Amino acid sequence: MMGSDKMLQRIEKSFALSLNDMRKIIKDFHAEMRNGLLRQKSSLKMIPTYVNIPAGNEKGRFIALDLGGTNFRILKLELMGKGKIGDLKARKFVLDKKHITGKGKNLFDFVARCIKVFMKKEKMSYDEKMPIGFTFSFPVEQTGIASGHLLRWTKGFSARGVIGMDVVKLLEKALDGEGISNIKVSALVNDTVGTIAARGYENRNCDVGVIIGTGTNGCYVENQMIINIEWGNFNKLKRTSYDMQLDKESDNRGSQILEKMVSGMYLGEISRLILEDLVRKKTLFRKSPPSIIFAKKYSLKTEYMSIIESDSSPNLSRTNMLLRRLGISKSSLEERKLVKKICGMVSRRASRISAAAIAAVVTKMDSNLYRKHIVAIDGSLYEKHPHFSKNIKSALREIFGRKTNRIDMMLTKDGSGKGAAVIAAITAKVEEDAAE
Ligand code: GLC
Repeated sequence: MMGSDKMLQRIEKSFALSLNDMRKIIKDFHAEMRNGLLRQKSSLKMIPTYVNIPAGNEKGRFIALDLGGTNFRILKLELMGKGKIGDLKARKFVLDKKHITGKGKNLFDFVARCIKVFMKKEKMSYDEKMPIGFTFSFPVEQTGIASGHLLRWTKGFSARGVIGMDVVKLLEKALDGEGISNIKVSALVNDTVGTIAARGYENRNCDVGVIIGTGTNGCYVENQMIINIEWGNFNKLKRTSYDMQLDKESDNRGSQILEKMVSGMYLGEISRLILEDLVRKKTLFRKSPPSIIFAKKYSLKTEYMSIIESDSSPNLSRTNMLLRRLGISKSSLEERKLVKKICGMVSRRASRISAAAIAAVVTKMDSNLYRKHIVAIDGSLYEKHPHFSKNIKSALREIFGRKTNRIDMMLTKDGSGKGAAVIAAITAKVEEDAAE
């Protein structure tokens, strides 16, 4: 059997991502972006969104729907013009398994019912015309600003009968069923596009939108139009045996390769697979009987990694608490240190892949970084993990040296919802202008 130190070194090496590795990713990303734009074979879909960065003068009252993770959110907000957002009300509804993996009709009927509840709570009338921005964070081939069909599900969704359908039509049909006819979808947007628009509403230098949460993706501006890259599906990456195993056991085998190495839905599971391997090879938790819970897929949540990686207590007591929760009743300090190290390795690689993707997108627009770029970024992992954003920044510094200060990463909380309202406003304005 291989010595435990040797084994660890080997794992560590396989998760390291050198500057050269990042440069290679950037190069391959550029090639895939080009092919995607030309509609040639590529792992990047490069979907035109029919929207540009907002002007900042959009005004009015709007509703935004945000569907794309375990929660479904509804926002009502007022855009004041001059890049300012006034009164904002938001409500969150939890999606059940039956909505996510059942019949598509269940999902859209539930959304419509939530809207009805929201309208009642907010005392909204059924007469006042109100445009909605619909953030639907999945790969959608847009056919216009307010229409598009789902290409495939990601992030564990599998609701039946939706792929290939126009999701705006499905939503409007469900709204009809609830007797709601005054609200009309005037923009269908991806969450990255919402995020770029929310930041762009106040600052026109914003030209990249990124989400690092349950899933991951980016968008940017190309010839006056925002392009949804769907970068989660990028597949030119060096994978470890753990990545392969995760992919093999996933419900969307072979796709979303980058997402499976970067986003919150998967990082905990990668760490768990490594730990499980070490337990199996008797390198870890020798005193604790190999736990059943540890063997359970996805039991190590990415949020736990955040707790473990920020545990600086001398005994790593918070880590101990979490391990107990996972069924590891006895662990030595050495073992807990090792768990922390493994989580760090996995999240660090994820942040460096993200940095390479961001670098590729920025240099696609401006190869020598002649100008400033604002990257609007949101997502639970980016926001809440103790080192993720720092690690992205330091990786960008390795790539660009002093020029990194031309890239400004700005956390844009709730951007996806707000931005959808901004885009709905752009459309409403275009329609108004056309009617004049
Ligand atoms: C997944 C979706 C993508 C979304 C991302 C972040 O990758 O396919 O559309 O932007 O998750 O939520």
